[in-house]
Amino acid sequence: MNPFARVALSAIAAGGIALGATGFQTAPAPATPAMAQRLPASSADAASGAAATIARGKYLAMAGNCMSCHTRAGAAAFSGGVAFSTRVGMIYSSNITPDPVSGIGAWTVDDLRRAMQDGIAPGGRRLLPAFPYTSFTKVSDADIAAIYAYLRTAPPVRYSPPSNSFLLRQRWGMVLWDAMFFRPERFQPDARQSAQWNRGAYLVEGLGHCDACHTPRNVLMAEKSGEAYAGGSLNEAVPGGQIRSWSAVNLTSSQSGLAGWSVSDLSKYLHSGFSLRAGTFGPMNEVIDQSLKNLSDTDIHAMAVYLKSLPPVQSEAPGASGPGVSGPDVQRGAKIYSDHCQECHMRSGRGGFLSAPPLAGSAVVQADDPASLINVILYGPDEPKDLSFGGWQTMHPYKDVLSDAQIAAVSNYVRSSWKNRAAAVTAAQVARQR
Ligand code: HEC
Ligand code: HEC
Ligand code: HEC
Repeated sequence: MNPFARVALSAIAAGGIALGATGFQTAPAPATPAMAQRLPASSADAASGAAATIARGKYLAMAGNCMSCHTRAGAAAFSGGVAFSTRVGMIYSSNITPDPVSGIGAWTVDDLRRAMQDGIAPGGRRLLPAFPYTSFTKVSDADIAAIYAYLRTAPPVRYSPPSNSFLLRQRWGMVLWDAMFFRPERFQPDARQSAQWNRGAYLVEGLGHCDACHTPRNVLMAEKSGEAYAGGSLNEAVPGGQIRSWSAVNLTSSQSGLAGWSVSDLSKYLHSGFSLRAGTFGPMNEVIDQSLKNLSDTDIHAMAVYLKSLPPVQSEAPGASGPGVSGPDVQRGAKIYSDHCQECHMRSGRGGFLSAPPLAGSAVVQADDPASLINVILYGPDEPKDLSFGGWQTMHPYKDVLSDAQIAAVSNYVRSSWKNRAAAVTAAQVARQR
């Protein structure tokens, strides 16, 4: 299942730089002591209230990663035009700068609220779920108002993104889709759980939209509600015009998910991209680099507490119940493992403090859809440049070292060794991802 392929993933880092370079800190004038003196106390209070709202809005916009999806390579922050490829054509993200003509400068706070909570833009235009309003519907009115205040401080940019492909301009179809798959609803705190758990749930399910990648989708691209966070698939366009598919791991406490992770492993990973259980690579890089890295310790810890409470769910992805791995295959894979992988990941599959993460119990290794496992072997883990991975060594790409059949064999070895369990990978699956 390949929902939305981000064509300009590489754009994101550039967007971040643009933001820094334009000095996007908007300290409203009355925050300076000189101005405050000239204003009567009440308006100074109002102004510092507004400044606080804008700062909160900036933080919430980072939690929702608006920047990543709305900033194309080298362009001004939030000016849109990032391309998403779907099975039925291309979708371009909107310009959400305050330009009144091409952006959302003429929108009221209520317009933004309706777009985020209901997926409907002014004039009744139905939005497409490549914009994760299906998650943002959980976000509170107050948080959306803060995001609105923050977005109004962005420099307005006159730019209209290209039109969507023909089928994706037929927005009336979304009336039906929304009726079938979408229920607008705010986050409901669970009184039986702690305030911390509820905060984590609010962030993960709402602004964090982790489900957008980590929940499997049906043929109409709607998330399968019974399999929330059980692992999804997505596409990324890579330079050269190719599309690379990825699997986003099972985040529940399933044996093929995060069963072996502690809350502290998970907090470390979400905040820094690294824990002794795993390091980030692929499309998760920008989630950490653009969004999670900037959140407070308290919020990250709350998200980890919530995720660790998810009961184990196993997705029923095609292939999950496919043929197991057979004897000769495993032997061939064992030899490749000892020649190429063991020095870092160890014979026991447990990795090491100064070498590499464990493959025993790894969610990437055991995912139903082996796309990320294949990519990490073919292309290496392409770690984000500015995050530190402790003392680990660098894993190099194997695309010029191992054949498709060899990569399938070593994948099968790691998928069936130690206590790992997953269906067999074929050479044809590897060939598709080269
Ligand atoms: C996963 C990618 C993604 C993320 C994250 C995202 N957006 Fe979007 N957004 C899109 C896409 C794609 C569209 C265009 C949808 C369409 O054409 O129907 C869009 C459309 C919109 C629109 C509708 C504007 C219009 O007139 O068409 C608004 C408003 C918006 N986004 C605001 C936000 C805000 C605020 C955030 C952060 C809280 C955010 N988006 C995060 C992808 C994203
Ligand atoms: C754009 C798609 C996308 C979004 C959004 C996303 N993820 Fe991921 N995530 C991935 C992919 C792909 C992987 C597998 C690659 C890797 O392990 O780095 C992954 C890996 C992970 C892992 C590591 C598992 C392991 O065993 O290595 C964790 C934990 C995780 N994501 C948590 C989250 C949380 C929490 C959120 C929401 C705040 C989130 N992800 C949002 C795509 C995404
Ligand atoms: C030089 C040391 C080294 C060698 C050799 C090596 N790796 Fe890695 N591997 C690493 C490091 C370090 C990481 C973590 C990087 C990251 O996640 O960004 C990693 C990550 C992985 C992951 C992702 C695990 C997870 O849960 O996120 C898999 C799967 C993997 N390696 C498989 C292999 C296989 C199969 C081989 C042999 C063909 C191999 N590695 C050889 C160092 C190595």
